[in-house]
Amino acid sequence: MESTILKTEGLKAYYGETKVLRGIDIDIPRNRVTAVMGPSGCGKTTLIRCFNRMHEMVPGARIEGKIRLEGRDITSMKLIQVRRMVGMVFQKPNPFPTMSIYDNVLAGYRLSGVKLRKEEAQRIVEESLKKAALWEEVKDALHRRGTFLSGGQQQRLCIARALAVNPRLLLMDEPTSALDPKAAHRVEELISRLKETVTVVVVTHNVAQAGRVADYTAFLYLGELIEFGPTSQLFTAPQDPRTEEYLTGKFG
Ligand SMILES: Nc1ncnc2c1ncn2[C@@H]1O[C@H](COP(=O)(O)OP(=O)(O)OP(=O)(O)O)[C@@H](O)[C@H]1O
Ligand SMILES: [Mg+2]
Repeated sequence: MESTILKTEGLKAYYGETKVLRGIDIDIPRNRVTAVMGPSGCGKTTLIRCFNRMHEMVPGARIEGKIRLEGRDITSMKLIQVRRMVGMVFQKPNPFPTMSIYDNVLAGYRLSGVKLRKEEAQRIVEESLKKAALWEEVKDALHRRGTFLSGGQQQRLCIARALAVNPRLLLMDEPTSALDPKAAHRVEELISRLKETVTVVVVTHNVAQAGRVADYTAFLYLGELIEFGPTSQLFTAPQDPRTEEYLTGKFG
């Protein structure tokens, strides 16, 4: 039995009156990579945005049901604490354009008003860039703007920025879909290594990518969790015909 870092119970998500998640029960295993797959519009982004309480920022949006992070109901936690424990990386790399690489990595601290001593700041920058497999490429350019980097490097910078505040859980929404194949491959390698320090939930449309990086895979369809299990099991012996149809490219 794996240990669970995040658990949902009957999670429903709404935009106004429209219900887009229809009662999701999932246990996300700690220090593993979980892929979330499913056809466009099935609710993948909505699901992971519930995990760090971004969903509720949309006007009229709300959830029903429970989300427990390390056993605690996230709606009873301070928002800043949830965001610190649950980092997020988006599809399009979004480093802060006016900030240096160095300041980008530290942005999470700056934005929450945490002051760091210089040596501590330097240590965090170096460690985070190393975890994101970017240090060697940028160590002599830390005070240049992050936007000088290639797309793949910018995405690894965003991963470094997310890791800098030591999240327990890292959410990634199609993190390689805007990258060329080589840059995507580097980010994939990185995802596989990250689970030593953090739990990863990655939304992907790429079945082969899920096969390469994910220990577990969840298949969503029309707002329902159809199937969830070890990736190898889901891929070789799907229990639901819809999972099989999706995996063999019949829809989505
Ligand atoms: N801000 C919003 N307001 C209203 N409806 C929304 C909003 N965001 C998403 N939806 C709707 O919620 C449903 C789920 O959307 P979501 O973005 O979670 O899907 P997805 O699985 O991530 O799709 P994709 O693979 O295209 O990214 C869709 O029907 C979508 O139109
Ligand atoms: Mg999406």
